Amino acid sequence: MLRPLQAAAILIAFAILPACAAEPAASGRAREAVVGLPCEGCEAVFAGLPATLTAHARIAPADEPGRPLRIKGTIFDGAGMPAPGVIVYAYQTNAQGLYPPAGTAAHHHGRLRGWAQSDAEGRYAFDTVRPGGYPDSDLPEHVHLHVIEVGRCTYYIDDVLFEDDPRLTAAKRATLITGRGGSGLAMPTLDEAGVHVVVRDIHLGRNIPGYPEGGRE
Ligand SMILES: [Fe+2]
Repeated sequence: MLRPLQAAAILIAFAILPACAAEPAASGRAREAVVGLPCEGCEAVFAGLPATLTAHARIAPADEPGRPLRIKGTIFDGAGMPAPGVIVYAYQTNAQGLYPPAGTAAHHHGRLRGWAQSDAEGRYAFDTVRPGGYPDSDLPEHVHLHVIEVGRCTYYIDDVLFEDDPRLTAAKRATLITGRGGSGLAMPTLDEAGVHVVVRDIHLGRNIPGYPEGGRE
């Protein structure tokens, strides 16, 4: 028997995907609010979405080379209350700054990707490795994030960026930090196990174009 959160994940995968990603607004089939567009390639967010989700998930496998990283935070609704049952999707480069091929054409976000679903207190976490910056550009290290809310189209939020990244210049901050879903800028701290830990709280709908007044319904 499906728990409510599992059922919600499946509902999103099969009911919201066509409305949000493939045929937004103009299709007339979208009963959910379509927000935060444009979201080029958003269909990849749902490719491989597991039937069972946990609040603490992995992006990179445990044996992935690189510096261990944990991304964690709390998801808040428009009223500032913790939001349970919200899915966070993340994808990133490996430690060399590359998106290693996933071995499937079903999506184009590479191999290092994962989903977590916030618990009763709105908390979520990912274990992974710290991403490298792209080798062919000066773009700062980053982890891409999307939010999937029940009954609403997916939307991307500001990437996780690292305060101690030398690539994150003032000019880059000015262009990359938009406040979508709150701030993605975080200073890593080292825990007792040698894991870099960053906190990325998420504020649903904040600075998301088209998001309904008053936040989450
Ligand atoms: Fe990227």
